[in-house]
Amino acid sequence: MNLVAKIEQIVRAHFADDSSGHDWYHIERVWNMSKFLHSKEGGDLEVVELAALLHDISDHKLNGGKLNDGGNVAREILLSEGATPELANRVAEIIDHVSFKGAKVEDRMETIEGKIVQDADRLDAIGALGIARTFAYGGHNGQPMYDPEIQATMHDSFEAYASSKSSTIHHFYEKLLLLASRINTDSAKEIAQERHQFMENYLSQFYHEWNFNTTNA
Ligand code: ADP
Ligand code: NI
Repeated sequence: MNLVAKIEQIVRAHFADDSSGHDWYHIERVWNMSKFLHSKEGGDLEVVELAALLHDISDHKLNGGKLNDGGNVAREILLSEGATPELANRVAEIIDHVSFKGAKVEDRMETIEGKIVQDADRLDAIGALGIARTFAYGGHNGQPMYDPEIQATMHDSFEAYASSKSSTIHHFYEKLLLLASRINTDSAKEIAQERHQFMENYLSQFYHEWNFNTTNA
């Protein structure tokens, strides 16, 4: 079995039965989207596939709060499955930088493989799927769907972002609506635009329904 197939099996088993928005199908979509973006943008396909498969392997929201642990966990898995240290390091480097860490936190990717996987992960965080995942995670995290009394925060550190518990609608302003303008590749930008517009329409409808009594009184 080749390395990608071995890692797929490990990741599939790891993400079975999740209800926080990080199920295997999220990983599978990011993997498929990464392969599609690679077909347009180039780069090393093995690095792209391994980083896509392992990108959420130790997420702080699910690992007891450890920030920036994913690269190390991915490196250990890859080495134990026979990857060279050079390959394991290239993948780990991407995983350490893939996540959104707050509105005012720098998250530039240096390599084309990293740009592709980051774009694929971000495309899955916006649009109809992104909305579904965000409400699923909000419920899992015990936060209200919406609280009209609070303000969105533009976080300036990963720690502040990671411990934030505002509301799921606030998360749109704190992350989801910021992603389209942070997409790296031209191929992903086109896809992002449609998904971004869908979220804008969704929010207009949400407020329209939320305020029904005041606007129709
Ligand atoms: P990704 O896998 O896209 O990097 P994350 O790991 O950051 O996303 O989060 C998983 C899902 O949970 C995403 O859809 C994300 O937008 C959502 N999420 C993260 N933090 C919050 C939050 N505080 N409230 C609501 N949804 C959240
Ligand atoms: Ni992800």
